[in-house]
Amino acid sequence: MSLMAPKSNTSKPINSTFAWKKLQLHAFTAGKRMNLRNEFSRDTLRTRDLSISGRYMHFDYSRQLVNRKTVKLLLELAERSGLRNKINDMRQGKKMNITENRAVLHTKLRDLSFDPLKIDGEDVAAKVKVVLNKIRIFSDEIASGKRVGVTGKKVKNIVAIGIGGSYLGPEYLAEACRAYAKDGMTLKFVANVDGTDFVQKTGGLNPEETLFVIISKTFTTAETIKNANTAKKWMTDKLGNSPDVISKHFIAVSTAKELVKKFGIDPGNMFEFWDWVGGRFSATSAVGGVPLSLFLGYDKFEEILKGANWMDLHFFYSPFDRNIPVMAGLLDIYNINFLGIKVRALLPYSQALGRLPAHTQQVEMESNGKSIDVHGRNVPYSTGEVVFGEPGTNGQHSFYQLLHQGNLPVSCDFIGITDPQYKVGVTSEKEVDHHKELYTNFIAQPDALAFGKTAAEVIDEMIAASKPASDAFMKTVLPHKIFEGNRPSSSILLKELTPFTAGALLAFTEHRAAVKGFIWGINSFDQFGVELGKVLGTDIRNRILLYIKDPNDAKVFADLNPSSAWMLTVLLKEDLHK
Ligand code: F6P
Repeated sequence: MSLMAPKSNTSKPINSTFAWKKLQLHAFTAGKRMNLRNEFSRDTLRTRDLSISGRYMHFDYSRQLVNRKTVKLLLELAERSGLRNKINDMRQGKKMNITENRAVLHTKLRDLSFDPLKIDGEDVAAKVKVVLNKIRIFSDEIASGKRVGVTGKKVKNIVAIGIGGSYLGPEYLAEACRAYAKDGMTLKFVANVDGTDFVQKTGGLNPEETLFVIISKTFTTAETIKNANTAKKWMTDKLGNSPDVISKHFIAVSTAKELVKKFGIDPGNMFEFWDWVGGRFSATSAVGGVPLSLFLGYDKFEEILKGANWMDLHFFYSPFDRNIPVMAGLLDIYNINFLGIKVRALLPYSQALGRLPAHTQQVEMESNGKSIDVHGRNVPYSTGEVVFGEPGTNGQHSFYQLLHQGNLPVSCDFIGITDPQYKVGVTSEKEVDHHKELYTNFIAQPDALAFGKTAAEVIDEMIAASKPASDAFMKTVLPHKIFEGNRPSSSILLKELTPFTAGALLAFTEHRAAVKGFIWGINSFDQFGVELGKVLGTDIRNRILLYIKDPNDAKVFADLNPSSAWMLTVLLKEDLHK
C-alpha cells in the first residue's frame, strides 16, 4: 500500500484517504500508548493548548488520549472530508438530507436577525418570525389571564404530549431552566404510550386549569395520537364535549395542518414548523417554543434561542482548531475510529442537566446510527456511538466502577458549572456548601480516570496508615486496588446554567453530531431505521383487533413465529404463569 497523497475525490470513502491512514498510524504508534501522567508532567502547556475557551463555554480536552500532533492530523482529516463546505452548505439551506430531499435549517430557527433565506422559493426567516410572534402573543395571553380555560379559570398546568424529538429536547430545556419557571405554572411531558405515563402526569391536575400541547411533526406517531385521544377523553369526561373545551384546552405543534384539523384542533391553535426542521433538531422551533414559553415566559425562550444562535455562529465561523463542536466531533471520531472507544458517558455535574444525556442519545444515535453512506454504499468503518449518562454525583455510586476499572473502553464528558442555580448549605472551615461539594467531584473524577493509582501508591498509602501488607494481601487484594488510568475524558465548563447557556449546550450537541456525520459521509438527518418496528407494530395491533372482534378467528395467531405467537397468546387468552 502506498501512502501517497491522493488526488481529490469526494466520493472516496474517508477511510481510504491519506489523512485517515496517517491517523491510523499515529493512533497505533502514539495514541494507544499515551500515558497521561507523563504527558501532564512533562508538558506544562498541555492544558492551555488542548483547551478552547469560548465566550460562554470552556472545553478542556487535555485528558483525551491526544497530543498536538493528533489535533493536527484530525484537522487535516476535517479538511480532507470537506467539512467546511458541508457546514456552509447546511447553513445556506442546501438539501443535505438527501434521502428526503430536505434542507437542514434548524439554525435558522434561532437567527433573530431574520435575514432572508429562500428554500423552494419561500423565505424561511419570515415564516420563523411569524410563528415566534404567535408564540409570544399566545404565551403572554395565557400568562396574563387574557386567554383562560372553558370555565374561566387561569391556565396553570401545561401537559406536553409528544415523543422522540417532539419531547426530549424540550424536556431537557425545561429541566435545565426549571429554576426560571413562572410562578405557579407547571409543565409535564407525556411521551410513553404506557398508560402509566399519562395517568401519573395528569394525576391531581384540575382540567379547568390544564392546557394540552400536542406536539408531533407528522401528527401520525402512534404513541402521541393515542395519548392525545386519551387526553381528549380525560378532558371532555370532566368538562363536557363542547367544541369550546377542545379549543380552549388543546393546541398543537405540527407540520401537518390537515391532520391537526381532523383531530379536532382549530388550525388557529396550531403552531407550525416545517420539513426543513428534523424532529431531533426541533427543540428551538415551536416544538420547544410553545411549552417553554408557557412555562418560562417567551423572553426566557428567546434567551434559549440566543444561546443556541451564539453556538451556531461560533460553529459556522470559528477556525476548526478553536471550534468547540468541531473539535469535540473530531475527538469522538478519534476515539471511535482510531482508538476503538465507541461508548461515551455524558456526565453533567448538575441536577438540572439530568435530561441532557437522554436528549443527546437521540441526537447522536438516531442521527449517526447509519451503515450506508450518502453514495448508497456500505460504510467500511464504525459510525455512531453509544451515549449514556446520569448527573454526577449519582452516577458515581452506580456505573463509575466500570469507567474506572472495567475493560470496556469509555470516553467521558464531564460538564461543570461554576455558579449554581441555588445556593444551598453553608461553607465553613469544616464543610463546603452543596455546590462546592458537587464541584469537588467534577474535578476529582476526570483526574482519577486519567491518572489512576499505581501499586506503589497503594503500598505507600498503607505504610502511611501503618497498615501491614501481608503476602496474601499483596497477591490477592492489591491488584484490585490499582487504577490503570489513561481513561480519556473532556471537561465542559459553563459559568451559569441559564436559558442562554442551556440553548448553547443544545446547539453544541446538535453540531457535534453533524460534524461526525459529515466526516463519515453519512446522512445524519433521516431515520429510516425506526420504520420497520412501526410497520410490524401495526400488524400486531391489527391482529389484536381481530381477536377482540372474534376470539375464534384463526388468523390472529397464524403465520407468526412461535415466540411472538406465544407472547400474544399470554396477552390475549392465557395467563403467563398458568
Ligand atoms: O420514531 C422516531 C421519530 O420519527 C423521531 O425521529 C421523531 O422525533 C419522533 O419519532 C416523533 O415524531 P413526530 O414528531 O412526527 O411525532
